[in-house]
Amino acid sequence: MRDYRSLLAGDPCWDATTQARYERLGEAAQDRILQNREELLALCRFIEANRVRSYLEIGTWTGRLLSALHRLFAFDRVAACDDGYCRRFGFSHHFPRDARVFLGSSRDPAFEAFRASLGSVDLVLIDGDHGYRGVRADFEMQRRHPHRFLAFHDITGANRHTRGVARFWRELRGGSKVELVLPHRELGLPYSTMGIGIWSASGAFRLDGVLDGPPAWPPGGSAEP
Ligand SMILES: C[S@@+](CC[C@H](N)C(=O)[O-])C[C@H]1O[C@@H](n2cnc3c(N)ncnc32)[C@H](O)[C@@H]1O
Repeated sequence: MRDYRSLLAGDPCWDATTQARYERLGEAAQDRILQNREELLALCRFIEANRVRSYLEIGTWTGRLLSALHRLFAFDRVAACDDGYCRRFGFSHHFPRDARVFLGSSRDPAFEAFRASLGSVDLVLIDGDHGYRGVRADFEMQRRHPHRFLAFHDITGANRHTRGVARFWRELRGGSKVELVLPHRELGLPYSTMGIGIWSASGAFRLDGVLDGPPAWPPGGSAEP
């Protein structure tokens, strides 16, 4: 397994400065990867262990996550769907040159044709509309198209914006689920306010080394209150 902590050391993620903006503005208005670094590292280990070669991200914000993953894994195919909300904050998208990009809502009927044109995608990360109906609609569409894994961000549903994802994830039946839910060290939290859930219809996961993160942090820290 490669050392993803070192490989991603120069990629800012959701830290205390992001959290402060989120609390002040109601938006994580920073041009960076909007992930808990520990969970991102576990996602990288999952991608390596499962030999993921194609990736679609629904809801990319400025594209920093997709770009970092493509830099690390040089996917055979990489694609993005985003509605461009980041532009309201003066940011632009930063997508790899070879990415296939759909600029618009994943609920736009044209997105289904775009998705069909991608063919089989090993891993789809659903991180756009976090409402219950939105995440369910994204799931229903993605499961109609060939894939290996469907992943969901924010399965802990820690705030009112992400509660719908937690409900969707809880209710999801059939297939198999893996949860990458780890302490948010960069926020100094011994628990996660995000969480990545990965679903597979067949249950064909390889998890060797995926959850081998650092020990629980801070030492002796308790679980979520
Ligand atoms: C939380 S951010 C994504 C963060 C990014 N995946 C990352 O990890 O850095 C959610 C993004 O999804 C976009 N979005 C929300 N609903 C969407 C939809 N239905 N279709 C496409 N994009 C959507 C938002 O504008 C925003 O850019």
